[in-house]
Amino acid sequence: MYALAEARANIALVKYWGKSDLARNLPAVPSLSLTVDALTTRTSVHFDPARNADAVWIDRKPADPRAQERVSRHLDRVLPGRMFAEVRSSNDFPTAAGLASSASAFAALTLAASAAAGAAHDGTKLSILARQASGSAARSIFGGLVLLGVGTPGQTDSSFATPIASERDWPDLRLVIGIGIEGPKEIGSTDGMTRSEASPYYASWTASAPAEIPRAVEAIERRDLAALGAVAERSALRMHACAMASDPGVVYLRGPTVEGLHVIQKLRTRGFHAWFTCDAGPHPKALTTPADAEYVARALAEVPGIRRTIIAAPGAGALLLDGQ
Ligand code: DP6
Repeated sequence: MYALAEARANIALVKYWGKSDLARNLPAVPSLSLTVDALTTRTSVHFDPARNADAVWIDRKPADPRAQERVSRHLDRVLPGRMFAEVRSSNDFPTAAGLASSASAFAALTLAASAAAGAAHDGTKLSILARQASGSAARSIFGGLVLLGVGTPGQTDSSFATPIASERDWPDLRLVIGIGIEGPKEIGSTDGMTRSEASPYYASWTASAPAEIPRAVEAIERRDLAALGAVAERSALRMHACAMASDPGVVYLRGPTVEGLHVIQKLRTRGFHAWFTCDAGPHPKALTTPADAEYVARALAEVPGIRRTIIAAPGAGALLLDGQ
């Protein structure tokens, strides 16, 4: 009743923002992401008949009660009527940087818990399970470029991720992450999404988002970075515009973030390949090529307030390291 698994974070190029069914955690819009080879979470699950409570450790420290509760609820989903478990999770990046990803965490937990329970689920089933804990986690089950569909409200199994291109199909992609203000984010994405539903722009966000998917898929088929980058910038700006127009406004962008986006755009006028995206946090990210990645990283690192950068390549999906 033991297994160990790892999963990597993913960065959405077409953003998931909003839910059509809060109880089942069904996304209101389809999304498309790149699983990256950086930011890995490794998680073990041991279902143990001798235990009388779950024990959850994150980076060798007991998890706070909210995180512990979220993990326990997810174990109930993976194995209803289960025994208690010890869960140990660790990240290969400092959690304090605010880079902690619910995507890598819940993808790794889903695979480890399923294997520890003796279930040989396929990727679709794992993705459905992971999605219920966190929408973006559904995508980290797979490597490379991954699509998450919206599904149908009321139907738990209707939304799951599918791989569009593996990490080996387009190896010449790079994502440069500029790490700005560190620390946990002030408004979690679930809260940010709920608040955004009151935004006057929410209806236009959900109406316009699906059309970005065929554009992104076509760009991927042609390995057309400029076309994919244009989609990514538009999707990020529209997501943030929708969130910022909530009442009270949800503002994730900080000074260094906005400056970072300008720097990335400016690099293009100088002949570099660089397109930005930004999630529910302050870190600007650039989609680029292996040849330009170092230069883009140096340019981002010069922005006052950007402390360091990470260059990531396409990464693999969730992997079972030990267990059935
Ligand atoms: C901005 O997957 O963290 O990163 O389903 O409520 O856990 P929950 O949300 P989460 O949201 C991710 C939002 C985003 C965009 C994206 O990853 O698509």
